[in-house]
Amino acid sequence: MSLFEKDPVHIYIGADHAAYEAKGKLVEFLKGEGYGVTDLGTFSEASVDYPDVAREVGEKVLDNEGSFGVLICGTGLGMNMAVNKLRGIRAAQCKDVEDAEMARKHNNANVLTMGARTMSEQMHRDCALKFFTTSFEGDMEGFERHKRRVEKIDLK
Ligand code: RB5
Repeated sequence: MSLFEKDPVHIYIGADHAAYEAKGKLVEFLKGEGYGVTDLGTFSEASVDYPDVAREVGEKVLDNEGSFGVLICGTGLGMNMAVNKLRGIRAAQCKDVEDAEMARKHNNANVLTMGARTMSEQMHRDCALKFFTTSFEGDMEGFERHKRRVEKIDLK
């Protein structure tokens, strides 16, 4: 059975030491909301390099069609830069629910990046729920322009 026969949305999540605590709280919240979540670490406050975590999460998202990633570090910015180096990843740095909504509607983002030190626990929750419940408009009749634009992101 694939992950997606079991879970309508599967989420791979990762954080560095700066966001270890915030990540743990978000994992518990998302599980409580019924999402399938795979926590890829880090699993303590010991210092780690965020690009290593970003790559692990990004590769899982690419290997599992339809899944999403969440990456949290101090600001979210380093995670965003690192994971966006992987072709096929469209990571959006979101600080509010409007960012999260538009990242899905117009950009078909597949990874959400957020800051642990720059956002509240409640905003992490709100952004994540908006991100996972908003569909890409580019698959709808009359909105093909969004699909065309997103496809251009992956051109060499
Ligand atoms: C770690 O101190 C910090 O640099 C990292 O969590 C992140 O904010 C980098 O973008």
